[in-house]
Amino acid sequence: MKKNVISEKQLSAEAACDYVKDGMIVGLGTGTTAEFAVRKIGKLVRDGLSIRGIPTSNRTKELAEAEGIPLIDFSESMFIDLTIDGADEIDGNLNMIKGGGAALLQEKIVASVSRAEIIVVNRTKLVDQLGVFPLPVEVIPFGWQVVFNQLESLHGNPDLRLNKGKPLVTDQGNYIIDCHFRKIENPKLLEHQLNMIPGVVENGLFINLCTKMIIADGEQLTVKDRN
Ligand code: A5P
Repeated sequence: MKKNVISEKQLSAEAACDYVKDGMIVGLGTGTTAEFAVRKIGKLVRDGLSIRGIPTSNRTKELAEAEGIPLIDFSESMFIDLTIDGADEIDGNLNMIKGGGAALLQEKIVASVSRAEIIVVNRTKLVDQLGVFPLPVEVIPFGWQVVFNQLESLHGNPDLRLNKGKPLVTDQGNYIIDCHFRKIENPKLLEHQLNMIPGVVENGLFINLCTKMIIADGEQLTVKDRN
């Protein structure tokens, strides 16, 4: 079973790389699925493809550098042609929960300026309604308890994400509070409500950002574009 899941991730990630063309600025996603795309792009670059990448986390940056992908930041370009990233949950409208790997903030900034955002998943990520996967909320360390309280009031059943018994610290030096809403009836409204809480930097609801989803189910690939 585990072996199947891993090969599905690879299949969808590598299929997305067919959309990467010479001269593009490419957003490089984070997570076990996106990693397959970074490795594939690395191979294409070594074979002569000319692109420049913008990574969505420190660990993707390290991997991309090891793969020999030329990297830039937003001082060199304010837009991205194409981003390939994973998701923790995605629904039929291509709205998502992301941030299981704690990279939601950079991922959302990158997605927000991407002309195309291809999300690569296996079938286990596809849901009718978002909310079973814990929704990450990135908060500044100062006053995180106040935000936690507010999230309880919103029935988010919050948990501070820990790493070896201490608060997990994101690439930007923030904490993550995971919320267990179970069913998110109105993702767009919730995204807004969460970001209105003072101390919240960003949350893991990605609404209207995915332009194409590639799902692998066994050896079968399905491509769905946003309507
Ligand atoms: C990273 O913060 C996340 O948004 C990932 O894109 C997401 O968790 C998917 O990761 P996997 O591909 O490892 O499941």
